[in-house]
Amino acid sequence: MILVTGATGTVGRPLVADLAAAGHPVRALTRSPRTATFPAGVESCDSAHPDLDGVTSVFVNPAALWRSERTLFDAARAAGVTRVVTLSSSSVLTGDSDHAVANRHRELEAAAEDAAPEFVHLRPDAFAANARQWIGQVRTGDTVAGPYAHAVTAPVHEDDLAAVAARALTGSIPSGEAPVLTGPQPLSFTEQVGILGATLGRPLRYREIPHAAARDAMLSGPWMTEEIADSLLRYFASCVETPTPVSPDLERILGHPGRTFAEWTADRVAEFR
Ligand SMILES: NC(=O)c1ccc[n+]([C@@H]2O[C@H](COP(=O)([O-])OP(=O)(O)OC[C@H]3O[C@@H](n4cnc5c(N)ncnc54)[C@H](OP(=O)(O)O)[C@@H]3O)[C@@H](O)[C@H]2O)c1
Repeated sequence: MILVTGATGTVGRPLVADLAAAGHPVRALTRSPRTATFPAGVESCDSAHPDLDGVTSVFVNPAALWRSERTLFDAARAAGVTRVVTLSSSSVLTGDSDHAVANRHRELEAAAEDAAPEFVHLRPDAFAANARQWIGQVRTGDTVAGPYAHAVTAPVHEDDLAAVAARALTGSIPSGEAPVLTGPQPLSFTEQVGILGATLGRPLRYREIPHAAARDAMLSGPWMTEEIADSLLRYFASCVETPTPVSPDLERILGHPGRTFAEWTADRVAEFR
C-alpha cells in the first residue's frame, strides 16, 4: 500500500492517478475524505488521522502536513514503512542559510531519513503551475504584473513530477537519490507570459513591479509569511543574474524530456479563460 499525502494537490492528484492506473494500492490523504474524489479503488483517509496499516511507501508533501510531519514520521516508523519520498525543493542546494523555504525542506529531508530505511528526496525547481497565480490578471486584462521580469527559471510540469514520484515510491529510483527536477527550457517570467498569451491567442505582457510592491502583494496571500516572501524574492533576484540551469535528472529518470511550459499552458488553458 502506498500512502500519498496532499493527494488532492498539484502533484498529489496526478500521482494518485498514475499509481492507481498502474494497479498499485493507494491510500490518499485529504482533509476532506468524505467529499474528495479519487480514481476507483483508491482509499481515502483523513489527513488528521493517517492510517499507516499495511503501508510500505509514503509520499510526503509538506504543504499538506503543515508542520505535522513528526506525527506522520513517528507513525511510519512504528508501522515499519520501508520507503519515504519527500516533495522537497532545489532550494536546499542554495548556500543561503536564511532561506526559509530551504530550511523547511532541509528539516523535512532529515526527518524523513530518520523515519524509514529508504528515502528519496525530490527536489523540484519552480512549478509550471505557479503560473496559476496569474489567472486573475489574465482573465481581466492583457498585463501580468509581478517582480523580476528577467528572472529565469526552468518550470516543471506537475505531471512529470508525479511520474518521477511514482517511480520513486515503487522502488525504481535507488534509495538516497535526490534528483533535481526542472523543465526542459530556461524561461524568464516575460517569456512565460508571452507563451501563455500565444496559447490563449492574444498578446499578453509582463510588467515588472518593484520588489517592495511585489512583497506587499505576496503578503496579502493567505499562507504567506515574511520569511517565505523574502526568500522567494531573493531567489527571483538571483535568477536574473544566474538563470536556473536545466537539470538532466528528470529526463534520465523518465527516459524522455520533460514537458515544456508551452505544453503546460495548452494542458491548462481552460483555467485562464
Ligand atoms: N511551487 C513551487 O514552485 C515549488 C517548488 C519546489 C517545491 N515545491 C514543494 O511543493 C509543495 C506544494 O506541492 P503541491 O502544489 O502539490 O501542494 P498543494 O497543492 O499546495 O497542497 C497539497 C494539498 O495539501 C492540502 N493542504 C493545503 N493547505 C493545507 C493546510 N494548511 N493544512 C493541511 N493541508 C493542507 C490540500 O489538500 P486537502 O484540502 O485535500 O487536504 C492540498 O490539495 C510545497 O510545499 C513545496 O514543498 C513547490
